[in-house]
Amino acid sequence: MSDQLGSMRRTHHCWELDAGDVDKEVVLMGWVHRRRDHGGVIFVDLRDREGITQVVFNPKVDKKIHAKAHAIRNEYVLAVRGKVENRPADMINTKLKTGEIEVAVTEFRLLNKANTPPFLIEDEIDASETIRLKYRHLDLRRPEMQKNLVLRHRTTAAVREYLNRNGFLDLETPFLTRSTPEGARDYLVPSRVNPGQFYALPQSPQIFKQLFMISGFDRYYQIVRCFRDEDLRADRQPEFTQIDIEMSFVGEDDVMNLTEGMMARLFKRVLGVKLKRPFSQLTYEEAVGRYGLDKPDTRFGLELKDISDIVAGSSFKVFANAVKKGGIVKALNAKGCIDFSRKEIDDLIDLVSVYRAKGMAWIKVKENEWQSPITKFFSDAEKEALAERIEMETGDLIFFVADQPKIVNEALGYLRNHLGKILGLIDANEYRFLWVTRFPMFEYDETEKRLQALHHPFTSPLEEDYGRLAKEPLAVKSRAYDLVLNGFEIGGGSIRIHQRSLQEKVFEALNMDRKTYEDKFGFLLDALDSGAPPHGGIAIGFDRLVMLMCAESSIRDVIAFPKTQKAACLLTEAPAETSKAQLDELYLKLKPITK
Ligand code: AMO
Ligand code: AMP
Repeated sequence: MSDQLGSMRRTHHCWELDAGDVDKEVVLMGWVHRRRDHGGVIFVDLRDREGITQVVFNPKVDKKIHAKAHAIRNEYVLAVRGKVENRPADMINTKLKTGEIEVAVTEFRLLNKANTPPFLIEDEIDASETIRLKYRHLDLRRPEMQKNLVLRHRTTAAVREYLNRNGFLDLETPFLTRSTPEGARDYLVPSRVNPGQFYALPQSPQIFKQLFMISGFDRYYQIVRCFRDEDLRADRQPEFTQIDIEMSFVGEDDVMNLTEGMMARLFKRVLGVKLKRPFSQLTYEEAVGRYGLDKPDTRFGLELKDISDIVAGSSFKVFANAVKKGGIVKALNAKGCIDFSRKEIDDLIDLVSVYRAKGMAWIKVKENEWQSPITKFFSDAEKEALAERIEMETGDLIFFVADQPKIVNEALGYLRNHLGKILGLIDANEYRFLWVTRFPMFEYDETEKRLQALHHPFTSPLEEDYGRLAKEPLAVKSRAYDLVLNGFEIGGGSIRIHQRSLQEKVFEALNMDRKTYEDKFGFLLDALDSGAPPHGGIAIGFDRLVMLMCAESSIRDVIAFPKTQKAACLLTEAPAETSKAQLDELYLKLKPITK
């Protein structure tokens, strides 16, 4: 049996005491981090959220207590009373705040026992993520996870403080709602009171925050959960958190200024880092042109070069045909990488094949010649033009991909990121923010064979492109912007459409007929017709932001109870089957599960 607290009350936490507290009587409570038995004296590192204090059970102080302390094991929960003492000189640990003192125990209570944990409660563990997620309550005891969640809390607090000060109202929006089009699949919730009908969990509060503007609230924010049923990755969760913001009577510059101010505040407050402002900006076209991706990591160079014009007429059919079919050819100069082995090059070719590149040609630039399977296809004039465009120098290794623009850009863009990492070109301590602007309004979805809004359909087109909506929608640019940090899209927003007629034109460009859009979005169209102010906003992916602030590589490490790649919670074993009674109540019947 374990003891109750009795009359013991905590006086200090486990990272508080130092040499200045010597001779005080204190009470500490926490978990047994380590227990060491040194020839009769038992040392315990007692741990709580704040840190560790060494407590000592000495038979010379109290025989009975010392005898009882033999039963102590890792992760047991203790309350100890004792006197703060200086450690003997040879036991001082100058690395720890509490390293000069220890507490000589005069009374202790074993508040609870603990089973042996499946992994040690410390930072460097080799437990699989599956085990860590199954025993998340223990995983969260590890100092690293505690630090991450504390940083997350401090960031939340700083966001609220900044936005509250700037006149924003923290307003809530419903979770049980209708489908909100952000491009992912919806999570559906059946309605018992309306049999056969479903709510959708919001992919974002987009429409509601616009309605708040129409209601005159002027400035809204919410740190809010969003739900998207999409394929999961290290930076994607089915439920994730946004700092969601909307403002009335603003242009792009206002939203950007506000966001930059918020980031500067957070980084200063939470990390003590001063950010350079204003953040740099690239148009979507520039970003994709130079880096292949609309979320480029601009901490290093290795920019891509379009060589389509040079090779269009060459005798290398792979390149010439790609250009003929409306594709492009781009090159990436891996500076100084001439010594890459065949195997290393083949591994990079495998990497780009993941992004659907059908091949990747290469050239090694030697003193007076090129070593490459494709050299023979180029004329001297073509070679000269290539050397100049790609800025070739002896010792370089050049990669080429020819295909449709999307494939070429993604393949070389991700290759670039990979090379930046393996060549050590990235300064891990740098925070490089970048705005990407003027996104295309629409993109063609190959699988669905139809146009889709690149951001969402409430984004305003550029005014000069209104006339193109009906006839050449793919040429229309929007007033959308993304915020990129070190190669991650950490936020996105836009200036919105605030007039019904324009909103209808955009729905029509998306091939919706009047009945469909009135059915789905009639309430929004009516609202736009009732005196909607010009407005715009942004949503910051809070988990991604915190992940980067914590220097983690997965958002799962900054979310207390995340889901696995298969959208499961291993701790609670959700999702789970449900009872027939519950299904009956909802008028639902399951089909046989075939996969
Ligand atoms: P968007 O869809 O770009 O915009 O989302 C905003 C930001 O949220 C983050 N994010 C995610 N983070 C983790 N897991 C996910 N599954 C996930 N999906 C998105 C990204 C992204 O930049 N309503 C608009 C915002 C607006 O227009 O104001 C919206 O939701 O960091
Ligand atoms: P092949 O004609 O398939 O023998 O390819 C000749 C060279 O061109 C090889 O080095 C291939 O890797 C490369 N290659 C093939 N397809 C492409 C492509 N789409 N883009 C760039 N290089 C390619």
